[in-house]
Amino acid sequence: MKPVRVGICGLGTVGSGTVNVLVRNREEIARRLGRSVEIEQIGARRDNPACDTTGMNVTRDIFDVANNPDVDVLVELIGGYDTAKQLVLTAIANGKHVVTANKALIAEHGNEIFAAAREQGVIVAYEAGVAGGIPAIKALREGLSANKIQWLAGIINGTGNFILTEMRDKGSPFADVLKQAQELGYAEADPTFDVEGIDAAHKLTILASNAFGIPLHFDKAYTEGISAITPRDIQYATELGYRMKHLGIARRRGDGVELRVHPTLVPAKHLLASVDGVMNAVLMEGDAVGQTLYYGPGAGSDATASAVIADILDVARLLDAPTAAVAPLGFVESDQQIPVLP
Ligand code: HSE
Repeated sequence: MKPVRVGICGLGTVGSGTVNVLVRNREEIARRLGRSVEIEQIGARRDNPACDTTGMNVTRDIFDVANNPDVDVLVELIGGYDTAKQLVLTAIANGKHVVTANKALIAEHGNEIFAAAREQGVIVAYEAGVAGGIPAIKALREGLSANKIQWLAGIINGTGNFILTEMRDKGSPFADVLKQAQELGYAEADPTFDVEGIDAAHKLTILASNAFGIPLHFDKAYTEGISAITPRDIQYATELGYRMKHLGIARRRGDGVELRVHPTLVPAKHLLASVDGVMNAVLMEGDAVGQTLYYGPGAGSDATASAVIADILDVARLLDAPTAAVAPLGFVESDQQIPVLP
């Protein structure tokens, strides 16, 4: 079979991981997929010593990738809003499938992007945007697809969980741990998104959309971060038999769905209480299966690349399939208008 030709835009933490894992696991991926995945072009403002792009076709203009007729799948890893949106819409208009790790883009502009993709008959996949390497979206769309999801609750920001864990275990000051998370490549370009709960609210919005079959409603999520949490709060929580965790919670309530992101006291024996460091976990309750828990690294170069590449493979599997088989992968069905309670 013909190789799948990808164009990777962005060579930051996730972009370099994606190049590295695609190169390292090239044969394994080709064996599993039945066709190889080729990096046709890379668009990045500058090189990143974390990955070797020698011999690859690298352009400094990411729009070259969106306009490259030899690229089947554009992988958007530049982050941010405006340029990323323009890039993705250009790729879609050119008939390319899109894989993105950009939760901010999907949570805030996903409805428009999905509409454009539907019109063009292309896929937009975004697993890597939620909970790093954990296949949480795939769990909702595939493994749990027979269920009516009642609620889900998760630790979905690795930086925040890392900060709370270090403050608890080492008594480290907030600012020092945040700096460490930035150095490790966990934090967003603007770490306010991590510590004020915005990143978690983006991810919760996407999870809820997939769980309940509703449009993306980022504006309706109650959002509170961890910046006001002190070591003393954490110490008191521990003394009372709790762990201080920053949770995203989505649940059916009345006729609607409630979205909430805030620090929460979790009983020390609860499964979520032992999720520490950069790890994420999402607990989901379906009416048929009951509770299932998904756990793993919520940020980091190779871990997030793992989810990016899984999406590339999903798209590749559907490239030769009829359109009807393509539609369910990347789109959130938006016709069911369950109101979201404030
Ligand atoms: N800043 C994010 C986090 C990166 O810490 O979870 C992964 O989405």
